[in-house]
Amino acid sequence: MKASVIILAAGQGQRMKSNIPKPLHKIAGVPMVEQVITSVKASGQIDNLYLVIGHQGDLVREAVSQAFSDINFVVQAEQLGTGHAVDQCRELLKDFKGTVLVTYADTPLFRPETFQQLLDYHKEQELAATVITAQIDDPTGYGRIVRGDDGYLKKIVEQKDATTEELQITEINTGTYCFDSELLFKYLAHVTPDNAQAEYYLPDVLPLMIANGYRVGAYCIADPQESMGINDRVQLAKAEEIMRQRICVEHMLAGVTIINPSQTYIEQGCQIGTDTIIYPNTYIQKGTIVGSNCIIGPNVRLTKAVLADNIQIEQAVVVESSIGENTVVGPFAYIRPGSEIGANCKVGDFVEIKNTSVGDRSKVPHHSYIGDAEIGSGVNIGCGTITCNYDGKKKSKTVIQDNSFIGSNTSLVAPVTVGAGAYVAAGSTITEDVPAGSLGIARARQVNKLGWKKTEG
Ligand code: UD1
Ligand code: CA
Repeated sequence: MKASVIILAAGQGQRMKSNIPKPLHKIAGVPMVEQVITSVKASGQIDNLYLVIGHQGDLVREAVSQAFSDINFVVQAEQLGTGHAVDQCRELLKDFKGTVLVTYADTPLFRPETFQQLLDYHKEQELAATVITAQIDDPTGYGRIVRGDDGYLKKIVEQKDATTEELQITEINTGTYCFDSELLFKYLAHVTPDNAQAEYYLPDVLPLMIANGYRVGAYCIADPQESMGINDRVQLAKAEEIMRQRICVEHMLAGVTIINPSQTYIEQGCQIGTDTIIYPNTYIQKGTIVGSNCIIGPNVRLTKAVLADNIQIEQAVVVESSIGENTVVGPFAYIRPGSEIGANCKVGDFVEIKNTSVGDRSKVPHHSYIGDAEIGSGVNIGCGTITCNYDGKKKSKTVIQDNSFIGSNTSLVAPVTVGAGAYVAAGSTITEDVPAGSLGIARARQVNKLGWKKTEG
């Protein structure tokens, strides 16, 4: 039978010193709470999912509902502790008989397999409750696991309530547990806030079960990194590093070369083809797809970008745009939202392109601004060409048809069209359409004042 899941995300997260609710702080581009939900779901043994929200709950609800449609939100109006938070699900789970998995929104590094292993262990051992524990070098801040002589769990003591001796314990409570549903709610009713923080602690339900003859397991995980809890920004940065490393390892094992993983920032959910090489200081952000045999970086940011195969891109930013195969971009190019660059193109240095389609084999090699334009295939845009797309009130379109040639330092005052195969002379300010196959010249004629130097002054 599948387990019900309760994720706690109602706490204030005071130690973050933030105006953003802690569950929405991101790790490798994904809010922590969404990361937890994704991992729990991926464990494949989940029935209903309850998310306990409270502090800035509306913001958390809004963000989470955008990402998932099947979450039951439970409001904990006053944050009186983790035990109290779980207790808010009592009514909703009153008819549920089976295993309840509880985890916290601020422990985002658990792998789906770990949840699976916990559920399997809990079932095989026929335990009333099982807690995931970890052996870590510095247990400061975590609840400590106190085991009895029989090896089973005896109790969990919070840092603030621990004796000097208990503080030496390096096995910690990760905050992820399995419970028999009926026993959980039965004994939760007897938990008291009799501790240093005057809170209803969830772990305090465990000794109550034990005192009534039930066995509680402590399942120690192999990779203690998974257990990391995020209470402040230092831990946030550490978790980010771990997650980033994990993502790089996945891509490397799938055939991507990453020159320096510690300086490569790939967010979750990006696709990268085999034999692509990524140079340092590259940011590949959510929603990006990169093809095979590409060379990306150094110093590149791709945000929701779609890159085909064999693309080279260096020192450049691409946002919400696509690039066709064999195209070369950069150094120092900025491709802004809504652009579609074709195959075998060149977008060179100091070029900004916005909301523009560029046909195959076209080149914008240097120092250009091309905005709100439609550029055909086989077009050459000379150095310093700009589209004057904005008159201070509205944006207008520039159309440059196939195989035309725009001379250097041309201003194209939109709306304007340069026909197929047309030429525009260097230095022109084009305010009228240039018909196909014609030459447009729009500049003052040069005047040479002969002997002028001699007569000067
Ligand atoms: C908790 C555990 C500690 C464990 C650690 C693991 C308790 C009492 N302590 O400590 O044993 O080692 O996690 O990271 O459980 N929350 C609510 N409502 C509340 C209080 C908290 O929803 O009233 C949520 C928080 O949003 C957070 C989670 O519960 O996601 C844990 O709360 P937090 O205050 O961070 O507990 P820790 O002190 O880290
Ligand atoms: Ca915590």
